[in-house]
Amino acid sequence: MTDTGGTGGGTGGGRYGLTNRQGHPVYDNQNQRTVGARGPATLENYQFLEKISHFDRERIPERVVHARGALAYGYFEAYGKVGDEPIERYTRAKLFQQEGKRTDVAVRFSTVIGGRDSAETARDPRGFAIKFYTEDGNWDLVGNNLAVFFVRDAIKFPDVIHALKPDPVTFRQDPNRIFDFMSMTPESMHMLVNLFSPRGIPADYRHMQGFGVNTYKWVNQQGDTVLVKYHWMPKQGVRSMTEEDAAAVQAHDLGHATKDLYEAIERGDFPEWELLVQIMSDDEHPELDFDPLDDTKVWPENEFPALPVGRMVLNRNVSNFFAENEQIAFGTGVLVDGLDFSDDKMLVGRTFSYSDTQRYRVGPNYLQLPVNQAKNADIRTNQRDGQMTYFVDTGGESPHINYEPSLLDGLRESDYATPDEQGPVISGRLTRKRIPRTNDYVQAGQRYLLMEPWEQDDLVRNFVSALTQCDRRIQERMVWHFLMVEDDLGLRVGEGLGIEPQDVAHLEPLPGQDLTEEDRNRLAKLG
Ligand code: HEM
Repeated sequence: MTDTGGTGGGTGGGRYGLTNRQGHPVYDNQNQRTVGARGPATLENYQFLEKISHFDRERIPERVVHARGALAYGYFEAYGKVGDEPIERYTRAKLFQQEGKRTDVAVRFSTVIGGRDSAETARDPRGFAIKFYTEDGNWDLVGNNLAVFFVRDAIKFPDVIHALKPDPVTFRQDPNRIFDFMSMTPESMHMLVNLFSPRGIPADYRHMQGFGVNTYKWVNQQGDTVLVKYHWMPKQGVRSMTEEDAAAVQAHDLGHATKDLYEAIERGDFPEWELLVQIMSDDEHPELDFDPLDDTKVWPENEFPALPVGRMVLNRNVSNFFAENEQIAFGTGVLVDGLDFSDDKMLVGRTFSYSDTQRYRVGPNYLQLPVNQAKNADIRTNQRDGQMTYFVDTGGESPHINYEPSLLDGLRESDYATPDEQGPVISGRLTRKRIPRTNDYVQAGQRYLLMEPWEQDDLVRNFVSALTQCDRRIQERMVWHFLMVEDDLGLRVGEGLGIEPQDVAHLEPLPGQDLTEEDRNRLAKLG
């Protein structure tokens, strides 16, 4: 074989000379080592065995959800205020403080249900996850393009995902399974009205909004907390596709959204989003007809305006899809000083799930990989060893002291710069109860009424076409829910399925369903 000479890799491995991972030159990459030209092969053939066995391990488990995605890099630039007020009044998080301050970001957009090579035209929520590499360590804001979610308690997440994923026998996504689950889950109506509208198929990743969905907290220098919701608005505008648009795109491209993002960045047409927050005082808000910790609800913008706090620009593509897009790991537990969790029951469940799955999917040292490292902060831990340890972050002078406290050397606890007690005092009995004020229909109805007529038509068409494939009992229960959401929606979907309101009048509320006065009036109308 040709050896181009040079310095690296020992005797034969020059600058362009192929070597194996041990640095041994590869003189023949075409033929295994055999006894005579026709074999048999020898087992001591290290070069061949290394090549094949590494290839055998090229795949890692794909993400259990959000398997298909696209990653890009850029920066977040702070406005230094929230609306017209100084932002320090609400949060001490450093990345937001000075106007013009830039923080490096990595952003991964994704679809949820399909596998790693599935179509990007699916009717499916889109993931919108941002890693901010701040000087105080990383902050991950792991959101979606739709403002609400299907369920409000993390214990239901595996069920909703099983219903949405392919059938375990036929391996086909099946509306009968999806709507079977949803028909028994009234809290999903708000999400369904969004997902089956044109917003359920964004035109691409550059033309969609992002939402934190769950409720978080901000903490100021004095330890005062507020509840916040995050929104990303694309400067490019919002564009969506109908089923027909999506079918036409899918006929020639399964990865149009990844391609669109990559090519826009390559040609210097950098996509940009503005970050806005809604703020609420940190209490239960009994005056509202919903719970601020319920992720199936939006906060009305006339009462809680969305206030701009900064903008984000994406200006660089990945240099290796696997190392960066496949191995990046986001999680809702990854917060910096000045940001905090709320007691949103989805958020706390998510916070366990992400790092748990990443230790399995990528490995216990996934945070040592370049794309996951807190590259703009100092990292000094006493974590040691485990598979694929890449470096050891020794603390003091002595590499012997990998524990704390020590009289001799090693790391010391950081000083608290700020009070460690914050937020309201909470007390209660241990219990398993749904939150009060579930109010599952009203916001779904408001959303329907806010849609333009063509969006309502599209929504009704999409519901009818999916429900046509479902068991009659599921169709009837869904029409019952839609009549509770808004008369017009229930009547129109019912008409498409040949179901009159009186056909569903015999249906009782679901076990444990928490109906409001307005819901009961709607129910009475059915009879
Ligand atoms: C990815 C769990 C709800 C947004 C994931 C992954 C898991 C997961 C296990 C795969 C992570 C990985 O392999 O790296 C959960 C659980 C939830 C939940 C248990 C509810 C209890 C949500 C909600 C949103 C969301 C409400 C939107 C606000 C995302 C996004 C990703 C993701 C964007 C992809 C992150 C990436 O691009 O790598 N989720 N999730 N998830 N989840 Fe969730």
